[in-house]
Amino acid sequence: MTDSPLPIAVLISGSGSNLQALIDAEHAGHGYVIAVVISDRPGVRGLERAADAGIPAEVVVWTEFESRGSFSAALCDMADRHGAKGLVLAGFMRILAPNAIERFPNAIINVHPALLPAFPGAHAVENAIEYGVALTGVTVHFVDEQVDHGPIIVQEVVRVEADDDATSLHSRIQEVEHRLLPDAVSAFARGALTVQGRHVRWDQMPEEAIG
Ligand code: GRF
Repeated sequence: MTDSPLPIAVLISGSGSNLQALIDAEHAGHGYVIAVVISDRPGVRGLERAADAGIPAEVVVWTEFESRGSFSAALCDMADRHGAKGLVLAGFMRILAPNAIERFPNAIINVHPALLPAFPGAHAVENAIEYGVALTGVTVHFVDEQVDHGPIIVQEVVRVEADDDATSLHSRIQEVEHRLLPDAVSAFARGALTVQGRHVRWDQMPEEAIG
């Protein structure tokens, strides 16, 4: 347990509703402070949310780099420049290179709109509907070298209704994301998470969730 809030960088690519949840929870005293928001593209709603909250915002444009490695290194340099001790991928649609995982070991957190290891990748909600599952959900996990694969911090189930389309299901999934992600980031920031291999131990687990 640390006394001063842990500075984190939040990485986004789009609307930033999870960023907003992190901003709102930060005001509730969750043990972290958003030192910088970094987008891989300009003009997205998430950057406006950062500006509205008075949080420094930066754009590291993916297409300006020759490789995933140099892009990832630039992102980490930017996060370092703002003093970030952890990265939160909140709807960030790029895959980080191993150099980022080496620089932030067990300190990069991702939110994924399915119950991993089911439906990894960029179309998890659509894939769950197409497959016909009755239950899907949310996974918050540490990031490792493989896509949507690292140790699971917390998961929660969302039921798929017969008349769901991707929009309606994603909307209910996001309600859960907006609660689980700040809780997980808060636990990380307070030093309440211990990683042992693929397992993440919580000092205290939120009531609704299964970790
Ligand atoms: C979230 O559903 C997240 O799980 C997925 O992308 C979406 C981002 O939404 N990776 P937002 O930008 O936080 O609104």
